[in-house]
Amino acid sequence: SAEDGSQGWLRYAPIANANDYITVPSRVVALNVTRGSPVYTAQQELERGIKGIFGKQLETNSSVTSNSSAIIVGTLDAYRAAYGDLEDVGDLLDDGFFLSTEGLSVIIVGNNERGVLYGAFEYLSRLAQGRFLPISTMYNPQAPIRWTNEWNNLDGSIERGYAGPSIFFRDGFVVDNVTRVSGYARLLASIRVNGIVINNVNANATLLNDRNLQGLGRLADAMRPYGIQLGISLNFASPQDFGGLPSFDPLDPKVDAWWANITDEVYKRVPDMAGYLVKANSEGQPGPLTYNRTLADGANMFARAVKPHGGLVMFRAFVYDNHISPANWTADRANAAVDFFQHLDGKFDENVVVQIKYGAIDFQVREPANPLFSTLRNTSTSIELQITPEYFGQNDHLVYLGPLWKEILETDMRADSRPSKIKDIVSGIRFKRPLGGYAGVSGVGTNATWLGSHLAMSNLYAYGRLAWDASQDAEDVLQDWIRLTFGFDEQVMEIITDMSMKSWPAYENYSGNLGIQTLTDILYTHFGPNPASQDNNGWGQWTRADKVSIGMDRTVKNGTGNAGQYSPELASMYENIETTPDNLLLWFHHVPYTQRLKSNKTVIQHFYDAHYEGAATAQKFVEQWESLKGKVDEERYENVLFEQKFQAGHALVWRDSINQFYYNLSEIPDVAKRVGNH
Ligand code: GCU
Repeated sequence: SAEDGSQGWLRYAPIANANDYITVPSRVVALNVTRGSPVYTAQQELERGIKGIFGKQLETNSSVTSNSSAIIVGTLDAYRAAYGDLEDVGDLLDDGFFLSTEGLSVIIVGNNERGVLYGAFEYLSRLAQGRFLPISTMYNPQAPIRWTNEWNNLDGSIERGYAGPSIFFRDGFVVDNVTRVSGYARLLASIRVNGIVINNVNANATLLNDRNLQGLGRLADAMRPYGIQLGISLNFASPQDFGGLPSFDPLDPKVDAWWANITDEVYKRVPDMAGYLVKANSEGQPGPLTYNRTLADGANMFARAVKPHGGLVMFRAFVYDNHISPANWTADRANAAVDFFQHLDGKFDENVVVQIKYGAIDFQVREPANPLFSTLRNTSTSIELQITPEYFGQNDHLVYLGPLWKEILETDMRADSRPSKIKDIVSGIRFKRPLGGYAGVSGVGTNATWLGSHLAMSNLYAYGRLAWDASQDAEDVLQDWIRLTFGFDEQVMEIITDMSMKSWPAYENYSGNLGIQTLTDILYTHFGPNPASQDNNGWGQWTRADKVSIGMDRTVKNGTGNAGQYSPELASMYENIETTPDNLLLWFHHVPYTQRLKSNKTVIQHFYDAHYEGAATAQKFVEQWESLKGKVDEERYENVLFEQKFQAGHALVWRDSINQFYYNLSEIPDVAKRVGNH
């Protein structure tokens, strides 16, 4: 059958002879169900899923007798009230659930209604994957905040979005038709995302006008059945630009009162609003520094406004000066987050979370984890990941990001010489913080595939899965997604797994390797090769490549001192060339092109070879995909084939332009005689 991709991984495709392997109950009993609630959604989703997979229409009943079977869904409290205590359930956290398929009835109980829905999706996911063995398991989230950030503009465009216009806005206002918003909320609920910040961090204050506030109410209503809360990004200068006040100084009582008032208005329309996301004093955005106030003063102003309503403030740590001078050897954008935030640790209100990009620069193909994660001890933090592959070929290249995210999340920052994995910092466990979690910059649009490419959906799926439990294996998560999206064919599984798992290393190989950054154009598009754009700019994304040497010297002894922002164990590793991993060599060190790597290759020869290897892998993706002809429906087969052919060609462009650029600069021949003037 043709697949437009809009159901994503929630297809509930029929499983041949499924009824021979398992007998699912014939009825669903939803406890204390009210129309439009997540429990109601759970009931409907179960009907839909069982119908799809087993061809069986569930009956809905309001109760079940002890000698007949049902799928019972409800909160733990509701379950206990109806059927008495439930053994083995364990300690459920907020959004957690318990799923038992061992008894006569299937039992799905959540700590709250959202958890009930998650349990229904988990049960259906298991069935859809043919996982029929009985289980009794408790599921709890590792972090309370699991949001997406949608960089949608009010005019309907999407910053760094590659899948058509916005599903939220059009021509300055919230859209009238929220069908796609519900469809998106459904997908996100199935991977246990619980919040969506709908507008761009480069925010437009007219989001706060009356018509849009009403629109926010409609959007929140469309998400609420899926247990998803709506959040918004704010423009710091709104009191002046939109409210007509003479200033937006966070310590001016009139400004404070203005925010309190508009916040009350927002909550009238969206009583369960999740909170605000704020980008301040970054890339030309206004902020508290304009008035010589601290970033904490700025964040706390919003915190006071949302506090009575139970809201959060996600305050971005992506603050840096975008007019720094490349002539200054010790200037370094990678230092900015710690420079701006370290002295503010402990000064943020309790409902503020500092949202930190995974690396210190900007969603690059390889970056060490941002040193701010282990610097802030008395501040709640979250990690910002980018699902939309801004620097990764913008969904014209296949790049499965699960392994990259895993590498960052498993990085041990060794704070106070103790285990301090990023995943345990942002969950709140390591520094005993009440809040913490994940923000995934999504990029979905009106394109039927949501992200502009069928295969890119593995990234959205993996994001939710890892935000819930970062200890899961990136390949296992991928394979769940493949089974749900493409079915059970072994060759399909093998090929898509192989392509996906090779995709990040391949992209790194033919874009920028050894920690040099992506080497993409950074002036305009962030697409395609342009190594020359990476120097002599005010943005501070530099490689410092010259005729004989390359790389940022981030050492304490001779460079920008960035290595010293890490805990002593990591700092001494990064300070020395010998102990710096090859894949971060040029991130931390400025070395001659003839510097030997641990592999014994020179830096320049590694560049040449890696670019050939990466591009060759991308060529193979085409043949690999072609081997699936007939095993994947036509629509998706053709769509992916088109993308893979583009990637194969573009990988050659990458290979040749990067290699030629460094050959021209260094004039060092390629030992394999592929690069240069032969
Ligand atoms: C990147 C991206 C911008 C975005 C910024 C941010 O620089 O290219 O489009 O606004 O990050 O995260 O704020």
